[in-house]
Amino acid sequence: MEPSSIEDAVALLRIGNVVAFPTETVYGLGAIAYNERAVARIFEIKDRPRFDPLIVHTENAQLAFDLCERTPPMATRLANAFWPGPLTLVLPKHSSIPDIVTAGLPSVAVRVPAHPIAQRLLAAIAAPLAAPSANRFGRISPTSAAHVRNDLGTDVPLVLDGGSCTLGIESTILSLFDERPRLLRYGSISLEDIRAVIGEVDLSVNAFARPESPGQMPSHYAPITRLEPLRDHLRPGDSERVGLLAIGPTSATGYSAIEVLSPTNDLKEAACNLFAALRRLDERKLDRIVCEFAPPHGLGNAINDRLWRGCQR
Ligand code: TXA
Ligand code: MG
Repeated sequence: MEPSSIEDAVALLRIGNVVAFPTETVYGLGAIAYNERAVARIFEIKDRPRFDPLIVHTENAQLAFDLCERTPPMATRLANAFWPGPLTLVLPKHSSIPDIVTAGLPSVAVRVPAHPIAQRLLAAIAAPLAAPSANRFGRISPTSAAHVRNDLGTDVPLVLDGGSCTLGIESTILSLFDERPRLLRYGSISLEDIRAVIGEVDLSVNAFARPESPGQMPSHYAPITRLEPLRDHLRPGDSERVGLLAIGPTSATGYSAIEVLSPTNDLKEAACNLFAALRRLDERKLDRIVCEFAPPHGLGNAINDRLWRGCQR
């Protein structure tokens, strides 16, 4: 990465533009959180409904907590354990954050990304960056600069290229807004790891009726091609072209394309490859894609959450 590209990004952000940048999870589409017009541009480019709030990224925990009205001791313990890294905390919002960022909620989602380019950008801009994943709303999140360019094209003036994301699945979102901690989105840090630091955590990850974290909206992470759960022992018919998204090695036959997320059944590797594999299958112009689900523990929960939502229409 040329130092000049960070400088270009800073110059664009300062005049109220948006810039795409890599994080360890997925690429983000960022704007200075205090610039309401720039933040509005993010919603426009993504076709994202205004009721879906954005995560605010800062260089370190102190700067993140400056954006919050209160920070319970649990927040500090989690920050010490997981920041910089793929954990997003939802906390009571400071009045300085514009309503457009939080969709009018009394809370703000904050995260300190670990990716060196995200870190350098945040240090250079010296301001919090509101940034959702850099994809059109409801579609597959981008894990490379090419994914961002394919999705958003010339709508984004600059994409900082940091190669492929090392984790490949979004941050885990945990709300500390109320007395009891609540998981709002499965992500790159497992629930087991969070419980090891703070003990019991309530689950709000399946609140489809009235989503509180709109990433909870049922249809999300969706390819253009129809995605369906794999049903046992059903071979595709001869007249259709079907793709298979397998978690580990498979002996399945009859498919026009097969993506194996991890040849060694490693959930970390599977998570890392998930979105790119789904995109490759989507490009094959198949009649449909069927997917296996991961074992429901550790990162398997985050993988299954994305697959399940990708299956909704
Ligand atoms: O890994 C990530 O978190 C990536 C990178 C770019 O940091 N970002 C990301 O942002 O996944 P996005 O916008 O695609 O997903 C953010 C989720 C949304 O589902 C949103 O509803 C939720 O965070 N969210 C944001 N602010 C919230 C709040 N105050 N309360 C509850 N949920 C919130
Ligand atoms: Mg997203």
